[in-house]
Amino acid sequence: MPISNKRLLIAAELLGQVKSVADIGTDHAFLPIHLIREGIAEKVIACDIAEGPLSVAKANIIKYGLAEKIELRLANGLLGLAPNEVEAITILGMGGETIADILTDAPWVKKSDLILILQPMSCDDRLREYLFREGFEILTEVGVESQNRFYTVMKVRFDGNLPKVGSEYKYIGKLLENPNDAAITFVKNRLKSLKSCMDDIKNVERKQELFKELEIVVHEIEKFLVKYI
Ligand SMILES: C[S@@+](CC[C@H](N)C(=O)[O-])C[C@H]1O[C@@H](n2cnc3c(N)ncnc32)[C@H](O)[C@@H]1O
Repeated sequence: MPISNKRLLIAAELLGQVKSVADIGTDHAFLPIHLIREGIAEKVIACDIAEGPLSVAKANIIKYGLAEKIELRLANGLLGLAPNEVEAITILGMGGETIADILTDAPWVKKSDLILILQPMSCDDRLREYLFREGFEILTEVGVESQNRFYTVMKVRFDGNLPKVGSEYKYIGKLLENPNDAAITFVKNRLKSLKSCMDDIKNVERKQELFKELEIVVHEIEKFLVKYI
């Protein structure tokens, strides 16, 4: 089963070689199967909150003869894992707020030798805000296009510091450090939605503070984007 989903392929690439990884919200287990077949991981714990996806995952794992390398667990978020069980965690294909909630519920993820690969389907700004506030460093971010929608895949690690970042960080993170077409389109779309939000609030008196904040953010993003327009 060669996987074609670019979100998953980029996540696997960012992960790099590891002994053990937990894939949270594994669904069909395509990512765990890819990680084992490509020799990226030696062992995967594939977790999902629902029985239905886990039975699909089980059928796929058996089909590829990987039952000894991929263990299935029915669990909410990270609650089915013990601290130190894995070297890395992948959480892909969920909303940014859900991903932040899953991390919040497992405070043991705050350790510097644990790699997190996170791919929000929405609310990436809320996820970055959470990561920033809680002392997680985004090591790298890669833009990806899938079925005409644009996403970010982040490689993250806890370091306990508050990074020195500009006002645009919450909205575009480190996407333009890897300025592929998907990243540039993602950032252009973000700029459009921020401008449209500013239009909506420009005459609302109690939103003037937010309006001024967004003006600065938009100006910063335009400065970054100017090279790519
Ligand atoms: C849209 S699928 C994503 C599948 C795969 N990770 C991907 O990116 O293609 C989301 C999966 O996450 C599972 N899920 C949702 N909330 C969860 C939670 N709190 N803990 C574990 N799994 C969860 C759902 O049951 C579903 O199988």
